[in-house]
Amino acid sequence: MFYKEDCEIVDVKLDGHYIWITMKTDEIALASVPGQFINIRVNSLYDPLLRRPMSICNVDGNNITILVLVRGRGSRILAEKKKGDVLNIIGPLGNCFPIRKKKAIFLAGGIGVAPFLYLSKSYDKPKLLFGVKGKEWLPDIKPFEKYCDLKIISEDGSTGEKGTILSLVEDMLFNKAVDDVIIYACGPNPMLKALTGFFRKKNVDEVYYSLESFMACGFGACKGCAVTTPEGNYKLVCTDGPIFKWNEVVL
Ligand SMILES: Cc1cc2nc3c(=O)[nH]c(=O)nc-3n(C[C@H](O)[C@H](O)[C@H](O)COP(=O)(O)OP(=O)(O)OC[C@H]3O[C@@H](n4cnc5c(N)ncnc54)[C@H](O)[C@@H]3O)c2cc1C
Ligand code: FES
Repeated sequence: MFYKEDCEIVDVKLDGHYIWITMKTDEIALASVPGQFINIRVNSLYDPLLRRPMSICNVDGNNITILVLVRGRGSRILAEKKKGDVLNIIGPLGNCFPIRKKKAIFLAGGIGVAPFLYLSKSYDKPKLLFGVKGKEWLPDIKPFEKYCDLKIISEDGSTGEKGTILSLVEDMLFNKAVDDVIIYACGPNPMLKALTGFFRKKNVDEVYYSLESFMACGFGACKGCAVTTPEGNYKLVCTDGPIFKWNEVVL
């Protein structure tokens, strides 16, 4: 069940390449679970026509917070929003992260960190490995540090260790049993593809990806977000996902 609501923005924080937006919802926040997303009409002019999907980054009572990477037309419009403006949003959409009584490891590449703040509240200080290109691509990490055991890695070494999420995971899980671990990953496709190679070799079972594919309607009507399964069938990221087991889809 999802809702379409006009939501007042109660807080906006510009943060380098990112923007944090908190809005007050009637039903959407309370109906949501970690891993779900909302689809936002960025202005009232239907230009751009398509809504922009954003992970639910945090929920506090009736409030939903999103973390947006400013990269194109829609996100630039969002970056101009002020407290008191109203956004039309549809949500909560999509499936959710499965929660297990295991040790949780979150693997985030860039803006892929967004869904992990909400998820972290389902675990006791989960490990969050956060990879960025460099220091300037790091959003405010304080909210994540509050709930996660955070480790940062950057491609150019300007913040945290130098390397990639894959190198960090290989080091961390090398020669370790992974039966009591559940892994969640969200980030660019090349990162997920590289991780898939590792998980296949290591024979890890409980790994879930959150996919950030291009989308239109967000609720199964347009078929614009289809991904292929290894059997050659199709799944929709917006309704069958965005969360998929690592070997359930072809990236
Ligand atoms: C389920 C889901 C959750 C998402 N959660 C977040 C989130 O929490 N925060 C966030 O910032 N973004 C998130 N995204 C991605 C976000 O929806 C797109 O980045 C956004 O629609 C871009 O809109 P734009 O108008 O700013 O960029 P556009 O003008 O549409 O595109 C600008 C540039 O970014 C590239 N681009 C656009 N969308 C994507 C994408 N999905 N993947 C890779 N490259 C892309 C384009 O190719 C282009 O080069 C999510 C996507 C999905 C499907
Ligand atoms: S975005 Fe329309 S079916 Fe998924």
